[in-house]
Amino acid sequence: MLEITYHGHSAVQLTTGEHSIMIDPFITGNALAATKLADIKVSHILLTHGHQDHILDAVELAKQNDATIIATHELATYLGWQGVKTIGMNLGGSLRLPFGKVKMTQAFHSSGVIVDEQKQIVYMGMPAGFVIEMGGKTVYHAGDTGLFGDMKLLGELHDIDLAFLPIGDLFTMGPEDALVAAKWIKTDFVVPIHYNTFPPIKQDGDAFVAALAEEDIRGNALKPGEVLRLP
Ligand code: NI
Ligand code: MN
Repeated sequence: MLEITYHGHSAVQLTTGEHSIMIDPFITGNALAATKLADIKVSHILLTHGHQDHILDAVELAKQNDATIIATHELATYLGWQGVKTIGMNLGGSLRLPFGKVKMTQAFHSSGVIVDEQKQIVYMGMPAGFVIEMGGKTVYHAGDTGLFGDMKLLGELHDIDLAFLPIGDLFTMGPEDALVAAKWIKTDFVVPIHYNTFPPIKQDGDAFVAALAEEDIRGNALKPGEVLRLP
C-alpha cells in the first residue's frame, strides 16, 4: 500500500505503514497549501533542484523531523551548511534507504539559488527527477522539466505505476507535452503538478486528466491536501 498526499505545487508526500517521505516541500510560500508545515512528519526529503518553489521549506522540515535531505551533490552540500543531514547523489545514481530505493533521473531545466541582496546566482548542479520504489509501487516524480526523448528510456527501464508530471507550462512542460510524456514513460496513472500555484502557470488539471483518459491513462488532478491510496 502506498499513500500519496499532494501538498500543492510539486510537493508530494509518500507514506507506507511505517515510512513517510516528502518531495520538494513548498508549503509556507504556497497560498493554496492546505497543510501546516509543523504537522508534517517525514524521515527523508527529496529535492529535484535548487529553485525556491521546491526547496523553500526543506531545511525547516528536516530540522523539525531530524530528517535527511537527498539532492544533487551541490544542493546537498549547500543545505548541509545550514545544519541538516544530507545525502548527495547525481544523475543516474541510485540509493537504497529504509523506505525503499531512489534513483535520480535527468530533467531538462536549470538549478540555482538566487541571492538577491548580492545579485548573485549560486549554481546548484543539474536539475533532476526521481524514480522511487516504495510500498510495492514505482513512482516517477519528474521535477521541473521540459519533454525529453529519454523519457521513453524511463518507460523501458522502469514499470512506472504512478507519475507526477508538471503541466504548468512556461517553466516546464505544458499539458500537451505532459500528455506525450505520460505515453512515453508508459505509466498507469498520472497526477499533474506544478500548476495553478501562480497566475503564469494556470492550467486546467481536470482537462488534462480528460486528455489522459482518451489515451487510456488514468489520472487525478489532486487538490492541495488531498490523499490518494494505491492498494
Ligand atoms: Ni524550477
Ligand atoms: Mn519550479
